[in-house]
Amino acid sequence: MKKDFISLCDITPDELEELFLLADSLKKNPRRRPLEGKSVAMIFQKPSLRTRVSFEVGVAQLGGHPVVLSQEGIGIGVREKASDIAQLFSRMTSMVVARLFDHAILMELANIATIPVVNALTDLSHPCQIFSDMYTLRQHNKLQHGIKIVFVGDGNNVVNSWLEMAMVYPMHFVLAAPNGYGPDPTILKNARASNLSQIEVVEDPVAAVKNADVIYTDVWTSMGQEAEAEIRKKAFAGYVVDSTLLSLAKSDCVVMHCLPAHRGEEISGEVLGGRQSIVFDQAENRLHAQKAIMAKLIEQAGNNSD
Ligand code: CP
Ligand code: NVA
Repeated sequence: MKKDFISLCDITPDELEELFLLADSLKKNPRRRPLEGKSVAMIFQKPSLRTRVSFEVGVAQLGGHPVVLSQEGIGIGVREKASDIAQLFSRMTSMVVARLFDHAILMELANIATIPVVNALTDLSHPCQIFSDMYTLRQHNKLQHGIKIVFVGDGNNVVNSWLEMAMVYPMHFVLAAPNGYGPDPTILKNARASNLSQIEVVEDPVAAVKNADVIYTDVWTSMGQEAEAEIRKKAFAGYVVDSTLLSLAKSDCVVMHCLPAHRGEEISGEVLGGRQSIVFDQAENRLHAQKAIMAKLIEQAGNNSD
């Protein structure tokens, strides 16, 4: 059975550790080429900088050939059904990496494809980001059971992936968001029901950041929500990660942001560029983390070559 990388709920704690070790080893030894002779199809229905560059460079470093396709180019769900695209990719390539709006289309691709499918962000989740962020926290010697991670802002795809990670790794995860901007209710319910982590959804960011090991934030308006931007600016006005908020957390608290950032909105320029910020380690680690994900998936898929 081929394996996909769609939701962090699908990985076990042992697999998480194994992926960390694989990322370390690929970082130290860039000559390993498990994708030699293989092609990876990449679909980007939404804009991307980090994900696009890290996957494209990562495939090349692993010895493979990336085939990058835009929505204008292939018209997934418009020019052609996702299931037909999945069959074509399965016959010509060894893996699919997809950034899509609708998570259901990703599931359609994964259900039909006979090759591994990687979720490079949908409206629902962003698992590559959060796996990579865990790797960054480990690099900074921050990763320990019960780590307090406070996300200040919108209960979006990035938050949903944190909640999925909270079902694999024990943590104290707090979302501080305005009423009405919570995470996906099913993922929240499942994360609470798993009983592995302490999960809180609150409205007050000031109380939330007390004793935080990590303060995390993301844009107030995600890709696809642009029509709501002005309403969101008003709703999130009190949810800014600035030096006053940061001073209320633990003195060695680190600040994370998946980027792109809007300085002066969800985060101040001073905090983003300050000594507690680890955002560019996060960005770099997308490369190492995703190389590990792809190497593992290709190993699991066995001899499913081009
Ligand atoms: N963090 C992240 O996924 O960045 P991009 O949207 O630029 O890929
Ligand atoms: N929540 C953001 C994440 C970007 C990496 C978005 O979906 O636009």
